[in-house]
Amino acid sequence: MSFNLCLLFLVLHLPAAVHGVDRYTREDFPVDFVFGSGTSAYQYEGAAFKDGRTRSIWDTYAHSGHTNGAHGDVACDGYHKNKDDIQLMVAMGLEAFRFSISWSRLIPNGRGPINQKGLQYYNNFIDELISHGIQPHITLHHMDLPQALQDEYGGWLSRKIVKDFTAFADVCFRNFGDRVLYWTPVNEANVFAVGGYDQGIIPPGRCSARTSCSCGNSSIETYIVGHNILLAHSAVVRLYREKYKATQKGYLGFNIYTVWYEPYTNATEDVLATQRANDFIIGWLINPLIFGDYPEIVKKNAQTRIPTFTKHESEQIKGSIDFIGVNHYATAYVKDNSSLLEMDNREFSADMAAQITGAQSDTPPDMYPVLPSGLYGVLDYLKQVYGNQPIYVHENGQRMRRNGTLNDTPRVEYFHAYIGSTLDAVRNGSNIKGYFAWTFLDCLELLDGYESCLRLLLCRSG
Ligand SMILES: *[C@@H]1O[C@H](CO)[C@@H](O)[C@H](O)[C@H]1NC(C)=O
Ligand SMILES: *[C@@H]1O[C@H](CO)[C@@H](O)[C@H](O)[C@H]1NC(C)=O
Ligand SMILES: *[C@@H]1O[C@H](CO)[C@@H](O)[C@H](O)[C@H]1NC(C)=O
Ligand SMILES: *[C@@H]1O[C@H](CO)[C@@H](O)[C@H](O)[C@H]1NC(C)=O
Ligand SMILES: *[C@@H]1O[C@H](CO)[C@@H](O)[C@H](O)[C@H]1NC(C)=O
Repeated sequence: MSFNLCLLFLVLHLPAAVHGVDRYTREDFPVDFVFGSGTSAYQYEGAAFKDGRTRSIWDTYAHSGHTNGAHGDVACDGYHKNKDDIQLMVAMGLEAFRFSISWSRLIPNGRGPINQKGLQYYNNFIDELISHGIQPHITLHHMDLPQALQDEYGGWLSRKIVKDFTAFADVCFRNFGDRVLYWTPVNEANVFAVGGYDQGIIPPGRCSARTSCSCGNSSIETYIVGHNILLAHSAVVRLYREKYKATQKGYLGFNIYTVWYEPYTNATEDVLATQRANDFIIGWLINPLIFGDYPEIVKKNAQTRIPTFTKHESEQIKGSIDFIGVNHYATAYVKDNSSLLEMDNREFSADMAAQITGAQSDTPPDMYPVLPSGLYGVLDYLKQVYGNQPIYVHENGQRMRRNGTLNDTPRVEYFHAYIGSTLDAVRNGSNIKGYFAWTFLDCLELLDGYESCLRLLLCRSG
């Protein structure tokens, strides 16, 4: 998922020199380091209404005019063409593949009976990957909650989600866990909560501004959703550790969207604002997983609008990760704006008390500037702040306007530079276990529909 948490863009002139090793080969990485690529169910599978699948909140969002008519009804048609795709993965030399399970395909009502056709689809896909020597890495929720649960109790806004999500995970572990070692319960939890409930620009499209959202409350819902995601994630991890870990021996991680933040100036206020941006975008959800509670500044600025953990919940959440999944695309600049704290009923982004502006160099506005020091910065920051947890770079890639050409030189340059900075971080002691390029095939993008793409392959040949 390519997604920018910054709404404003400002042109800054950046030095052309690029940080990062320039010459490297596969052999420079540790032997157990994996290279892969990935997709998500709604962006890849298609067959949206086939063989018993029901709507998710992403189907609903895409079909209500938010994405210029782009939707995933057919998408890459992976539901029918995945065997061909696995041949392409083999030809590319992928060692691992990251994909998500469509909850509403596997359990159409969100809870209750399993859809046998859905079960068969995922079983076949996993078997086919493994028989070609490709390691499956599975995400359980990639922005696609079953619409049935959204309608019934408001989805992630309700604590009822914890029980249903854990039961869904149980079905996945029971049926696929004999062959799958790497699990990420929730993709980009921070983007899902902020984009879906503060800004209203991704499913389920809720926010306070009635001009863009028909319902929602940006000053409280983002925090409630983040809280429920942590409760649900940790309940799933507890289930796995109690019931499956001894026999299946797998690993569970938490995935976040990261931006590398640079202070806009060297003034103390901007340096502190940059730390706040890290505390809100990364620390908000990662601190509880490592230390058992939200960062002090988040609690202070969100006041009573952020829920609190009981002692028991805090103990369950603390330590409930085996790795951190990092999605990274871009660098941004942070400028203090403490006057935002004077607003009543302020929203998540105002609690941060900062203005965030995207970095641009001479790169065309619809592409990411090539700043691999940003990925290095994120990896080094996570190492230093969170005690060098194992990390997978789950998503990284260049966004380009779809123009029907295979002339992908800018994308090659982007990957070359960012993989180089990953190697730099490995060499400076970061515990990085793998790198996944986003995305395997040209697919539906959340914010751009089919207008832009981050693909490795333009299309299947033949
Ligand atoms: C959001 O919730 C807060 C706290 O309950 C309330 O004071 C505020 O009026 C609500 N805002 C909207 C837009 O509903
Ligand atoms: C901040 O200070 C550093 C070191 O003195 C300097 O390299 C950098 O250009 C300064 N940044 C800004 C935005 O002034
Ligand atoms: C701070 O935020 C307020 C409210 O959004 C805005 O009016 C003001 O221009 C911002 N100040 C700066 C320096 O960006
Ligand atoms: C397609 O877009 C890329 C990136 O913007 C650009 O480098 C390339 O020249 C474009 N090709 C055509 C045929 O427009
Ligand atoms: C390398 O890692 C060490 C230890 O975490 C850290 O202090 C240092 O700043 C890092 N070096 C660079 C160049 O980032």
